[in-house]
Formats: sequence, C-alpha cells, structure tokens
Amino acid sequence: MKTMSCIADLARRARRRLPAFAFGFLDGGSGEEGGLRRNRERLEAVTLKPRFCTGGKPETTATLFGRTHAQPFGIAPVGMGNLLWPGADLILARQAQAHDLPLVVSTVSSTTIEAMAEAAPGNTWFQLYYSHRPDINRDLLRRAWEAGIRVMAVTVDVPLAGDRRRDVRNRFVLPFRPGLRFMASVAAHPAWALATLRAGSPGFPNLAPYNAAVSGQTLSAFITSQIKDTLSWDDLKELRQMWQGALLVKGLLAPEDAEAALEAGADGIWVSNHGGRQLDAAPAAVDALAAIRAAVGPDVVVVMDSGIRSGEDIVRARVMGADFVFCGRGFYYGVAAGGAAGAARAVELLTADLRRTLTQIGCPSWTGLDHRWRWDDQAAASTAVPQS
Ligand SMILES: Cc1cc2nc3c(=O)[nH]c(=O)nc-3n(C[C@H](O)[C@H](O)[C@H](O)COP(=O)(O)O)c2cc1C
Repeated sequence: MKTMSCIADLARRARRRLPAFAFGFLDGGSGEEGGLRRNRERLEAVTLKPRFCTGGKPETTATLFGRTHAQPFGIAPVGMGNLLWPGADLILARQAQAHDLPLVVSTVSSTTIEAMAEAAPGNTWFQLYYSHRPDINRDLLRRAWEAGIRVMAVTVDVPLAGDRRRDVRNRFVLPFRPGLRFMASVAAHPAWALATLRAGSPGFPNLAPYNAAVSGQTLSAFITSQIKDTLSWDDLKELRQMWQGALLVKGLLAPEDAEAALEAGADGIWVSNHGGRQLDAAPAAVDALAAIRAAVGPDVVVVMDSGIRSGEDIVRARVMGADFVFCGRGFYYGVAAGGAAGAARAVELLTADLRRTLTQIGCPSWTGLDHRWRWDDQAAASTAVPQS
C-alpha cells in the first residue's frame, strides 16, 4: 500500500479489483455526473495563502458536540458498504476507533448499528433515512441510543432516487439478477467474488426487523421506497422531540434551508450534495458551504462533505467555513483497494496531507484556521496592505 500516493491511486486500484457494477455504484454520480465533477472543480479552485516564519507546529484536534477528536475529519455514511468489499464497514469502524474519527453508520448499512457501535464505541454516529413509518424511526433511534450513539444526522436530500445511470447500464438491481455480462464481470474479479461468496450477499440488517423487502430494484430505488418522500420541517420538529442527542440535518445546500433546520431544532448543518449522487445540477458543496456559513454566522456547527480527497481539501473546506469535514468514497476506495491495509492507507494519506498543508500555510492549529488563509479573501487582503 506504500506506493499508493493519494486517494486517486486507491480509486484506480479499486477499479481493477471490483466488478464494474460494484465500482460503478461507489464511484458514480447522477445524470451526466456534472455535480460530481463540479465538487472537485470548485474545491480545486479554492487556493490558500501560505504564510511563513510563524514558528508553530500543526495541531489537528477538533471539538464537536463536546467531544474532542484527534482529526477534524470523519467517515460519511455509505449504504451497502460490504458490497464494495466484504467486511468493509467493520474494517472502517476499526480504523475510526484506532484514529479517533467519527464514523457515521447508515440506516441502509450492511452491518448493524449495534455491531458498528461496538467496534467504534464513542466514535459511531447514526444516519437516519426518515421512514414513512413512525414506528421504524422510533425504533431505529432507540437502538442507536441504546448502542451508545449520541450524534444523529438525518439525511433530507433523497426525496427520490437519483438518476444513477451507471447502475442502469451495469444492470445493478437488488436482489442480484445475474445476467451474462454481470457474471462475466464477477468472474473477472475472483478475489472479490470469492470473498463475497464466503461472506454472503450483503443486505440491510438494520431494516430487517421491520420486514423491508427488496424486489428487483436499484439500491437507490429501494432506499427511496423506505423514505418518507413528503418530509417537512414539521417532521423535523417531531424528530427533534424523539432524539435527545445532537442532531444534524444532512444534505443541505440552500442557506434558507439551513435556517429552517436550525429553527426546527437542529444542532448543526451538514452541507452536502450527496457526493454528486442526487441532483446533477446541484451546486458544488464547497460553494454552498460558503453561502450557508455566511447565512448562519460563526457560532453554528457546520460540517461538510462531497468531493473531499486530500488533506488540502479538508483545509480548503475549513477556510470556506466548515467546522468538521467528512469523506465518503475515499475510505471505501481504500478498503476496496486493499482491505484493512487500504483503509489504513486512506486514513494515513488524509492525516499526513492535512499536517503537511497546515505546516505549509503556516497555520498552527485547526481551530485557528479560518478565511484569512483563503487567497481570495478580501478582508484579509485589505489588512495586508501597508497603512499609509
Ligand atoms: C456508495 C455510497 C453510498 C452512500 N450511502 C449513503 C447513505 O446510506 N446515507 C447517506 O446519508 N449518504 C450516503 N452517501 C453519501 C455520503 O454520505 C456522502 O455524502 C458522500 O459520499 C460524500 O461525497 P464523497 O464521496 O465525494 O466524499 C453514499 C455515498 C456513496 C458513495
């Protein structure tokens, strides 16, 4: 794994090791994948202002909801992760525990909330897809709480399935309907096929107790069938009453929605365009981040994901207003590229690059890092002009 120099290297290796349908499910976006590309383009457009001779050493700890983490980044919720590599969810839970990173377990994860929380106690968060059945919402939250989870994110950006064209082209439906092309692709990836055969086809164990049935659907169509598609801010207010822990609303892009979420009782905003997997014409998450930070002010917890692939990106998100940053695909590329060693390499790459970037811009701490390190920050630029 030492020759993997960046997350993109891990993604390239993952592409070789996974059947096309599994890699497409992980890597793909919606529609023409403009949203996916835009996340990267707009992050890369954020340039930093290096300052030298500041004499400090970088400090990466970040406090969120009263808990201090060693790094300011975590693992975003990814449904059906074990499809990408058998045991992927637990491999990442162990990484989260070893490196003190929050890991968010999805409603549709392929490992139970309880098993994930046991593997990463104190670092596991829960992501809720708000069900149209109130009993399911209540029970999932009860289970999360009893498993020791104290932070929950409700995802609101899936009112219906995204237009995932790679899944259609690869005939990726659940349960698997192995056609000729599908089988050929599996046979061409024997390591994945054997490991998956041994582990069994991944399912949705969190939803199993409620008899959620999958029948010839793409994963996103299945998820949509479970979600209340007419979610309103009143539902969010109700949810607030049902959950005593910290509550984030995930998938927000519009400043107006961030304000409505706070009004409904959210403790924080999770800016995301679902990694470019929902609305193809969505703005880049980093642009929405800046707009939302400007709207809610400096004191509200704002976290962000979508497009993060390096420590430099994490710093870019910070200077645009994020308190904490999440990455989804990057960690799963790591597991798919090399199991536990690949997951460890993904964490190592982000951690090392974050320290390198903080050092190169002369900023001693994550807490002290803000818009003044943006190259194009006008307020900072004007203070740099000598006063006559
Ligand atoms: C394969 C895959 C499955 C996902 N499943 C979920 C999910 O179950 N719940 C959720 O809120 N977001 C889900 N997401 C979105 C991620 O939580 C996150 O917002 C996104 O991956 C961030 O973009 P990035 O992959 O570019 O880092 C999923 C993303 C991917 C790639």
